[in-house]
Amino acid sequence: MKSTDNKNTKFAQRVQNIDISGIRKIFEAAGEQSINLGLGQPDFDTPDHIKQAAIDAINEGFTSYTVGAGIPELRNALSLKFKKENNFDVSSDEIIVTSGASEALEIALASLVNPGDEVLIPNPGFVSYSALTEIMGGKSVSIPLGKDLNVQPDDVLDNITPKTKALVLNSPSNPTGAVQSRDNIKAFAEIAEDHDITIISDEVYEHFVYEGEHVSPAQYTDNVITVNAVSKTYSMTGWRLGYVAAKGEYIEQMLKAHQYVQACASSISQKAALAAVTGPMEPVHKMHDEFKERRDLLLDGLESLGIKCEKPSGAFYAFPEIPDSLKTTEKLVSNGVIVVPGIAFGENGEGHIRLSYATSSSQIQKALDIMENVI
Ligand SMILES: Cc1ncc(COP(=O)(O)O)c(C=O)c1O
Repeated sequence: MKSTDNKNTKFAQRVQNIDISGIRKIFEAAGEQSINLGLGQPDFDTPDHIKQAAIDAINEGFTSYTVGAGIPELRNALSLKFKKENNFDVSSDEIIVTSGASEALEIALASLVNPGDEVLIPNPGFVSYSALTEIMGGKSVSIPLGKDLNVQPDDVLDNITPKTKALVLNSPSNPTGAVQSRDNIKAFAEIAEDHDITIISDEVYEHFVYEGEHVSPAQYTDNVITVNAVSKTYSMTGWRLGYVAAKGEYIEQMLKAHQYVQACASSISQKAALAAVTGPMEPVHKMHDEFKERRDLLLDGLESLGIKCEKPSGAFYAFPEIPDSLKTTEKLVSNGVIVVPGIAFGENGEGHIRLSYATSSSQIQKALDIMENVI
């Protein structure tokens, strides 16, 4: 077999260049009894009224392909949701229902990135942004985070070149839990217009904000593809249901990528998402309040251990400062606490670990006790 640069020539460079997710490697080393502070999903069950909508869909035979962009009832409901919750106007024709936020990110980047184009990505940031950019042949350009663990407008400006096509924003953030201010969001919108670039705004944690407010850049500019999903909000990660909203010219291009990769999102999950988006919000508020309590427990515990941690205002992650994060992670995992080293989210994540508090308070307390001995 021929090989160049020790790379296999059988497979495309675009996939060989990508490293397997750092998170998965850590999980493989964990014991069964471990306390899991590595989870990227709520530890709650999907609410009953949503499950019932899916059961009804199956029983009624709603099991065929749907319209590619998604069933009109769901797109209408999402259009109302954007108006009510996110304060911007988008018609149902400007929405595509996808297989999770993951597919939404993929079609957004597929519609924008030519080989060699640059995409500005928070570093540390959610793992898919740079991997998907590279699969598209683009170049991911790291934007370092400020002291408050948020991307700063000046750092975005410093990294814009004639090849810059897009800026990825993720507020509240995975892995830091940081929430962007309205002023920063306005500044990013202005930058996008001045430099003719597109903001890809990943808002999957929008309902988990404990201080401050969630602000969608689409309030301030049309140069935005808004990415969201029912995955985190309604504890539906396995249902694989997300969506994008953007002006018609974006939708026209993204729809092509969506149709040939996915055809349509799951018909059953679409009915479940309709029940989620139009149904009672109490289960979401309950999760929000529970996460906030756990966050406070975790932060107090870290503080009493003398571990520095910027207060995360959203999502369900804390990103404390831990030197030599890989070694500490290995030590914690072998002592029964699963965490994710900051470096799994980009080289600037070194010096931190990500702790998810999507697990019970008693488990968080036990994990803190173990951390006291290990760190
Ligand atoms: C910031 C962020 N965006 C997107 C996703 C993917 O969401 P989905 O499960 O809807 O594909 C995740 C999942 O962890 C995430 O943390």
